[in-house]
Amino acid sequence: MSQVHRIAVLVGSLRKESINRKIALALAGLAPSSLELKIVEIGDLPLYNEDIDGANPPAAYTRFRDELAAADGLLFVTPEYNRSVPGALKNAIDVGSRPYGQSKMSGKPGAVISASPGAIGGFGANHHLRQSLVFLDVATLQQPESYLGNIGASFDENGELNERTTAFLKTFIETFAAWVEKTRKF
Ligand code: FNR
Repeated sequence: MSQVHRIAVLVGSLRKESINRKIALALAGLAPSSLELKIVEIGDLPLYNEDIDGANPPAAYTRFRDELAAADGLLFVTPEYNRSVPGALKNAIDVGSRPYGQSKMSGKPGAVISASPGAIGGFGANHHLRQSLVFLDVATLQQPESYLGNIGASFDENGELNERTTAFLKTFIETFAAWVEKTRKF
């Protein structure tokens, strides 16, 4: 049997009823058996501050860094806030990137998917996030680009994802699985 790759999923919304969290959970269900997706929580991370980091960092920083370190790949599922990355997600990335030279993300395969009730599907957040991932040396999947616009229309009255969006998510996660396989061999 081929290796199972553990994927840390970072959801950019802290809302209980978050659409992006629902998308992340749907992706976990659609993923091929070569991927194991797990949401890594970011809501308890204190705002990044070098004064509280170092030899004795907050327990939440250590828990988060350990979860990232244990992952073979990273999947970001995020809304857009004011045409950019939500602060909670940017904070999590900052925490995971430190201490300097010990980033828990460097060299890992990654992918970004954004979802919004708006027409442009969180394009701004998606690409601002990609800018940080370039610097952090995360090998980010290029295609398919995944901006899920008008996302409310993708759910039926029972809260189930429609066939069209489900099919897209399946293609997305299967392509990511192949990307993980490829980049882990480098
Ligand atoms: C938003 N929203 C939003 N949507 C968008 O498409 N572009 C944007 O720039 C913004 N800006 C923005 C700022 C702030 C502070 C909030 C709270 C919301 C709307 C956002 O897409 C919507 O609330 C989503 O439902 C959030 O995703 P979750 O929480 O459902 O995953």
